[in-house]
Amino acid sequence: MQKLWICLLLGLLAIQCSKKDQTVVAANPNALLNIEFAALSAEGNEEAAPYIPRFEAFKTELMKNLTEAIQNDGTAAAIERCKIVSPEMEKKHSDKARIYRISDRPRNPNHSPNEFEAAVLKLWKARLDSGEKIGPVAFKTASDFYVVAPIVLKADLCLQCHGKNISTEVQSKLAELYPEDRATGYSMRELRGAFVARKSLND
Ligand code: HEC
Repeated sequence: MQKLWICLLLGLLAIQCSKKDQTVVAANPNALLNIEFAALSAEGNEEAAPYIPRFEAFKTELMKNLTEAIQNDGTAAAIERCKIVSPEMEKKHSDKARIYRISDRPRNPNHSPNEFEAAVLKLWKARLDSGEKIGPVAFKTASDFYVVAPIVLKADLCLQCHGKNISTEVQSKLAELYPEDRATGYSMRELRGAFVARKSLND
């Protein structure tokens, strides 16, 4: 009897461990929406793990630039700084894997999501609406490997440039530099966008 239990336990462990040996494959964005979230989650996925600290490094460096610019020159001037630094950071932190940010309401139109990335944002939003947890996900398409990590608004600072009550000075700077800006009107704890690492499977 005891042996049976041990076998069962080992069997379960094997299932648990093998689950993340392979990143799930999504043939198309609709298929991605139908994958169970636990299978999509990057948690415990060894292939995805190295990208999470790279997102953190990107974020830390960007925040440092942003807070310094706000302190030294004010929020409106910091927008100009961000416009230069943000693409620089993308270049700096990318290698074979491109590292960048996306949003379904982008400020920089280059940050519009592709269909797979849009599907991830949709999936997270549905989970947030029903009070479920969200977190980084990893998957493969026919051509690429993706790790996508949510960016949720957690600091008051962000609302100076993305919130509902934006100073007129900041508003006019945004209108000047980002005429197609869609990234205002947010509240705390809302999903602002995501970090993406995308690597071609054909390299
Ligand atoms: C000083 C104004 C300012 C502040 C404060 C600010 N942002 Fe932004 N944010 C910008 C600008 C400008 C861009 C567009 C950068 C570019 O051109 O690539 C941007 C872009 C982004 C993007 C990429 C998607 C897009 O819309 O282009 C995300 C995600 C983002 N911000 C999140 C945040 C978060 C989270 C905070 C708080 C930690 C924050 N921002 C604080 C000005 C700001």
